Amino acid sequence: MATATATLIPLEAVEPAMIEAVLDRAFGPDRHARTAYRIRQGMDWLPGLSLAALDENEMLVATIQCWPVALQTKQGQVPLVMVGPVAVVPERQGEGFGVGLMSAMIAEDARLASGGGPSLPQVLIGDVDYYGRWGFSAAMTGGWRCPGPFESHRLLARGTAVAAMPSEGMLGPWEG
Ligand SMILES: CC(C)(COP(=O)(O)OP(=O)(O)OC[C@H]1O[C@@H](n2cnc3c(N)ncnc32)[C@H](O)[C@@H]1OP(=O)(O)O)[C@@H](O)C(=O)NCCC(=O)NCCS
Repeated sequence: MATATATLIPLEAVEPAMIEAVLDRAFGPDRHARTAYRIRQGMDWLPGLSLAALDENEMLVATIQCWPVALQTKQGQVPLVMVGPVAVVPERQGEGFGVGLMSAMIAEDARLASGGGPSLPQVLIGDVDYYGRWGFSAAMTGGWRCPGPFESHRLLARGTAVAAMPSEGMLGPWEG
């Protein structure tokens, strides 16, 4: 993998329309129908864990967003962070921007937790071959359901608190 020269900035420093343009280019216009969108429907992304990557010409080339979601169970809701989408514009894929954004997000999560902040389990729908390098796995999510179609081997979670999560529940927006 080539190592891209990237500058990472908070996503809140980027115009919303530019973020949407990156997402449209990475995923196509049908992206809003994805199950991941339904899980975090109505939520705003978390500024502390959402980042953008600029290339060597200071062009926006990649974004990562994280969202407050929950596992809804009979006993109530349990908070999680939903990771994604991770989006890299097609002509810059495979250059390290995705790995750079994911690693920075996870480092920031660890930094916040070491300062006494919450370190919530993280969940995403994606390829374990890619996200496994950060500890994401389907091992604990077998009893979790989603509000739309998904492949169970692609529902991945990570974090020290994942083992304490309920084994069954429905993922959905955090009902604050
Ligand atoms: C998937 C995506 C985020 C990866 O980001 P990227 O910047 O292209 O990838 P990186 O350069 O950081 O990482 C490349 C490495 O990941 C691997 N990789 C990329 N996509 C992969 C996948 N789906 N499964 C397994 N490995 C993958 C590459 O083979 C490469 O491996 P290496 O490090 O051993 O050489 C990006 O290609 C993208 O936006 N794709 C379209 C949208 C998408 O599918 N997003 C993910 C779902 S949320």
